[in-house]
Amino acid sequence: MALTMQLFMLVLLPVASLLPPGTQAGEIIGGWEAKLHSRPYMAYLEIQRKGDTYICGGFLVAKNFVLTAAHCKGDKITVKLGAHNIREREESQQVILVGHQYLHLDYGKEPRNNDIMLLKLAKRAKLNRWVKTINLPHTKKKVKPGRKCSVAGWGRTVAWNNLTMATTLQEVDVEVLEDDECMYRHYNASTMMCAGDPEKGKDSAKGDSGGPLVCGKTAHGIVSWGPYRPPGVYTRLSTFIPWIQETMRRLQP
Ligand SMILES: *[C@@H]1O[C@H](CO)[C@@H](O)[C@H](O)[C@H]1NC(C)=O
Ligand SMILES: *[C@@H]1O[C@H](CO)[C@@H](O)[C@H](O)[C@H]1NC(C)=O
Repeated sequence: MALTMQLFMLVLLPVASLLPPGTQAGEIIGGWEAKLHSRPYMAYLEIQRKGDTYICGGFLVAKNFVLTAAHCKGDKITVKLGAHNIREREESQQVILVGHQYLHLDYGKEPRNNDIMLLKLAKRAKLNRWVKTINLPHTKKKVKPGRKCSVAGWGRTVAWNNLTMATTLQEVDVEVLEDDECMYRHYNASTMMCAGDPEKGKDSAKGDSGGPLVCGKTAHGIVSWGPYRPPGVYTRLSTFIPWIQETMRRLQP
């Protein structure tokens, strides 16, 4: 995800215009295959939008709710839970259609801000050893810079100009950085957080847009955007807890 850090979602089909100029072929983005079912909250999102297919990550926060980035919205979204190899039909997998997409109301008002969306599943997921929810942080509880966290996803494992997608879940460690390390235009420290690979020169997180930034047992961020090089920008979940709780409460039967 040098990839996943980008502003736009990954396209499954090769689209030449999405490729940034001047990238190195075959550059490996530091990361590795995740241990089998070690991240049971991970969701693989297949998004149909205007005839194209995109993929995003997401994470299960309740039996019938997946959290992801607002820019992963689409005309139709299918969620795959309990997956490791998304090209195979594993017995652990549950494929569920999204019933409704709830974008944050302020998404789109300012560039890249409030990049968060709740997906209500058409039916509840069955929680078991392969499919579990992940905890969210407390309201306003900011993660301290220096904290080691991780990101996972099925995004690209190699260079920007190589459209090969991972078939198995990949993960990488990233460190939470000070806000001023993300001196990007449109970076907003109250709604976003900055994280990157602690080892300079290596490419940062891999995983797809919408996937969780996990610190300990808690999801603290959502992969949102960034330039081609790390650090990347994540939606700061602690800011959105009231919105998440209120939205879920309103929609629970
Ligand atoms: C893309 O990456 C894959 C996996 O590492 C590799 O097998 C393939 O040769 C690469 N393709 C190009 C065009 O570099
Ligand atoms: C940061 O985001 C918040 C929430 O959307 C917004 O109220 C605030 O105006 C933004 N700050 C800047 C400097 O854009």
